[in-house]
Amino acid sequence: MPAIKSILHGSETFPPDAAFVEQSNLAGLASYHALCAEAERDYENFWGNLAKEQILWHKPFTRVLDESNHPFFKWFDDGQLNISYNCLDRHLVTQPDKVAIIFEADDGKVTRSTYRDLHRRVCQFANGLKSLDVGKGDRVIIYMPMSIEAIVAMQACARIGAIHSVVFGGFSAKSLHERIVDAGAVAVISADEQVRGGKSISLKSAVDEALSMGGVDSVRSVVIYQRSGKDSKCHTTRDVWWHDLIADKDDTYEPEWVNAEHPLFTLYTSGSTGKPKGVQHSSAGYLLGTLLSMKWIFDYKPADIFWCTADVGWVTGHSYVAYGPLAMGATQIIFEGVPTYPDSGRFWKIIQDHKVTTFYTAPTAIRSLIKSGPDLPGQFDLSSLRLLGSVGEPINPEAWMWYYTVVGQSRCPIVDTWWQTETGSHMLAPMPGAVPLKPGSCTFPLPGIMATIVDETGHEVENGKGGFLVIKRPFPSLARTLWGDPERFRKTYFPQDLGGKYYLAGDSASRDLDGYFWIMGRIDDVLNVSGHRLGTMEIESALVSNPLVAEAAVVGKPHDIKGEAIIAFVVLKGIRPHGEDAHNISVSLREWVTKEIGPIARPDEIRFGDNLPKTRSGKIMRRLLRAIARGEKITQDISTLENPAILEQLQQPIN
Ligand code: WTA
Repeated sequence: MPAIKSILHGSETFPPDAAFVEQSNLAGLASYHALCAEAERDYENFWGNLAKEQILWHKPFTRVLDESNHPFFKWFDDGQLNISYNCLDRHLVTQPDKVAIIFEADDGKVTRSTYRDLHRRVCQFANGLKSLDVGKGDRVIIYMPMSIEAIVAMQACARIGAIHSVVFGGFSAKSLHERIVDAGAVAVISADEQVRGGKSISLKSAVDEALSMGGVDSVRSVVIYQRSGKDSKCHTTRDVWWHDLIADKDDTYEPEWVNAEHPLFTLYTSGSTGKPKGVQHSSAGYLLGTLLSMKWIFDYKPADIFWCTADVGWVTGHSYVAYGPLAMGATQIIFEGVPTYPDSGRFWKIIQDHKVTTFYTAPTAIRSLIKSGPDLPGQFDLSSLRLLGSVGEPINPEAWMWYYTVVGQSRCPIVDTWWQTETGSHMLAPMPGAVPLKPGSCTFPLPGIMATIVDETGHEVENGKGGFLVIKRPFPSLARTLWGDPERFRKTYFPQDLGGKYYLAGDSASRDLDGYFWIMGRIDDVLNVSGHRLGTMEIESALVSNPLVAEAAVVGKPHDIKGEAIIAFVVLKGIRPHGEDAHNISVSLREWVTKEIGPIARPDEIRFGDNLPKTRSGKIMRRLLRAIARGEKITQDISTLENPAILEQLQQPIN
């Protein structure tokens, strides 16, 4: 594969197709540079003008950026707006009958909701929440399947000024409980079941279990959307069916006008400790980021059929399902199921059936689709596609080439978008009508995003060298704090070692001689499994909470499909198990982690030792464990290792 080899060296570029450039919102590299220069010249006015242009303000702002309480920045903070108004009401005059959401259920059934209909549903549900005494600033946990109702729930919270916190439906009751408690939620919105890949999984029973764990007195109501209609137990005073709640409710609701800095949502994500952090976003700054990236990176056009495959439980499902596309007035697909059901052609069939123009997914999905049917896209009519996107982890050049040639038929640019839960919207990504692509590179920062790479002392490194990815100036869509833990926010993202001024993303990266950014991976103990962030400490805490386990260390290992696989090294309280015993305990510990966190955190492999490799001061030597997990010969310095004999033991896989 000579072409791919040279790409791996970063030399081959793919300039945008002439036909694409002609219709693009931003054509030619010069216009990209002009926008960047404008931001450099007058940073505040650059953002101020965009905020005036893009957002509908109830009360205009007079201040753009307040940096006085670094790093707790405020943007446009004396302005007032409502996000739901910006996503729905603004389209009622211009395009009420345009379809906002095309929902395709797991079994293929399609339902549509226009902007008028969605507005009506959101207002009704907002009235429902109000009748439950949920109001401005209250926290609401949303634990729902991919559905129009999930979007309605999020938008209704935004409409009344409540702060939602969506918990991915794949998380366990224990994880749900942890988030309910941390948020001090007053209400939980969920469903009886979720249906994926032909199977039903109860969500309500996880809610019941979470609410039986104690410390949840803040929760006054539970609203249950009836997805499957299978019998579900209702707690007499606390639970209410979604359809009963909205039955007699008015379908208008005057939006609650909130300040620009009012928190729109918190979203829990993994960090380098055992406790997930509640990343808290603002209203206006966040909205601005999603709007601009829809326009600049997705090159949004009113005729587009937009499809972001992310679940609303992740940030991508917030910015590019629940908010960005609606704020733009787009028609988007929401898909309930999985890419492999009823067969691996499902994604391609959806693109064909609904004439999708813009398709945004994760490299792990692309890799698994290559594996299950490299030629399948050829059997479908994918001619409606004009733009492809990738998010969540680095896309390897081989997967990029397949995506580009087989799915995009060498016609559609691929926007490889680097960003994070904390950044709220795209940070590094090509403007597709302007920037020539290099497979595997997320190319350049968006205009106004002052990204660079520094060494461990905070000094910028020259092109060709690697280091820490940082953003030098605050930007509107940056998270404002961590829920209930501002100190952790400051320490994690604005560390003193780097001078305390720059936003530290937590990724390492390099820039090639053309200035293209290449993301190399996390610098902290965070794994990226199928595009999902998981803290090694979280999995370790789950393992050691098992009565059999004395100690555990978790590392990542490269995996063809998932990006990274989870390998756990475990020391039991009793003797080290062998043979069938080891196998059985390994199975039960993997199940245990699934119950504690969720299936995404289940270790791929467990190895048992009498001990873990440690320095004399008792620190676990993770670099050795990483080498063992990869099956590499240990060539590293082990002179500080207390117990070298342990290495051999840990190199033994369980069959
Ligand atoms: C990784 C997802 C390389 C990165 C939006 C980041 C990526 C973490 C890319 C954030 C990309 C995301 N190329 N790596 N295009 N996009 N990442 O918070 O390590 O779930 O720090 O947000 O995913 O994951 P999160």
